[in-house]
Amino acid sequence: MTKPRFDLPPEELRRLGALTADAVASHRERLLERPVFGKVGADAALFREPLPEDGRPFEEVLAFVREHVLPFPMGNSHPRFYGFINATADPVGAMADWLAAAMNPNCWGGDHAAIHVEASVLRWIAGMIGYPAEAEGILVSGGSMANFTALAAARRAMTPGNVREEGLAGPDRPRLTVYASDQVHHCVDKAVDLLGIGTAQLRKIPTGRDFRMDTAALARAVAADRAAGFSPAIVVGNAGTVNTGAIDPLGEIADFCRSEALWFHADGAYGALASMVPSLRPLFAGIERADSLATDPHKWLYAPYEVGATFVRDPGRLAATFRKFPEYLASDPESPFPGPAWFAERGVELSRGFKALKVWMGIKTHGRKAYAAQIENDIRLARFLADEVDRRKDFERLAEPVLSIANFRWRPEGRAMSDADLDRVNRKIIHRLVGDGSFFLAPTILKGRTTLRVSITNFRTTESDLLALLDEVERVGKELLA
Ligand SMILES: Cc1ncc(COP(=O)(O)O)c(C=O)c1O
Repeated sequence: MTKPRFDLPPEELRRLGALTADAVASHRERLLERPVFGKVGADAALFREPLPEDGRPFEEVLAFVREHVLPFPMGNSHPRFYGFINATADPVGAMADWLAAAMNPNCWGGDHAAIHVEASVLRWIAGMIGYPAEAEGILVSGGSMANFTALAAARRAMTPGNVREEGLAGPDRPRLTVYASDQVHHCVDKAVDLLGIGTAQLRKIPTGRDFRMDTAALARAVAADRAAGFSPAIVVGNAGTVNTGAIDPLGEIADFCRSEALWFHADGAYGALASMVPSLRPLFAGIERADSLATDPHKWLYAPYEVGATFVRDPGRLAATFRKFPEYLASDPESPFPGPAWFAERGVELSRGFKALKVWMGIKTHGRKAYAAQIENDIRLARFLADEVDRRKDFERLAEPVLSIANFRWRPEGRAMSDADLDRVNRKIIHRLVGDGSFFLAPTILKGRTTLRVSITNFRTTESDLLALLDEVERVGKELLA
């Protein structure tokens, strides 16, 4: 009989594991020497090799990874990466992911350690945000899935009859409407679409100059819908928008939802964990009253991708939304297997990886206070950048930073340029910086104007990186106009 190829003896695991650890350490060591964003370009041909029929030694495969994969990152571990809301990963999380994969439990349920770790992580995250500890939660792949999962629970709870059986189609079914600000993340549009509510029934409520929801407009929209025969059901409040970090008036939304018997969902994928910062806490007041809450440990707990979290205030509502057990999974009360939480009942997925370990080991290694301080530092850096933008005559700030996002544009003084010209040149500046690998940022559009958007969820960024960014924007801008 041939030796089983897949079953590495422990000594071999130790040896190959050490080689892998060395590859990780070298990768991090060399990050600063290389472009922020590692465009693969013509080397993409290397990845079009035919399907390997026969294997190669692990060392050879690892050598390829060291040469052709690790040097071409998206860039989010680099101190000069400010795109989207893509955090720098905590190395503790990377090590935990390896342990989790080695153990490889399927986290749908049962009385094994991973389930207890996940339950504990959920309790800790709720505690960080000030959300009720008894809330029903589940870890999911990220903010999109966290919002989808919560909105599915909202849809079930807010639809008369049994929406799981009856659906929403047909003349006698309620026409649910959902409300969110015009700054809401597009994953809410996706969820409303996939849940059969339809994006035509998603009302985008205008925001003011501060990009926060206008709650008087919300009240008018709900009243108009009731008068027109719709069934207003859900209000999504942003606890940190993706564009500017704006936090909707969550307390007012909570009051309104209570008085109108609506479901209040808070999208805190990006911002909710910033409520750990004492000076920001008042901005989040009301989040603890949300019927459901989404947040993302892969953003502001710096956990490696992917991990998001969903909470529903009243225990049992997630299970009522997703429970469906076939015979082969029916639990036997006399079996020693069943455990405290049955996660497969609380979401879409049956087989689930051990995402909890990276969050759990991170929190145990660093402690809550360290996360609060680090988040506070990211926010301080965005403020520092905004102040520097205000100080420099050739820059214009386009939003007030609330969390760790600064929005501004390069606008050379004394030179008449239309908004369209400014949009063009600012976009070109971004393409140059990303293209030459000096910085990574992605533009957004605020009230019709293209902005240089700098989002910092990055424990490696310093003030001098941000000063260098402004210098470089200025240099490239002048070159483009010359
Ligand atoms: C406010 C907000 N909600 C939802 C999401 C979606 O999260 P994910 O990319 O983890 O699916 C994001 C992502 O940036 C976000 O900022």
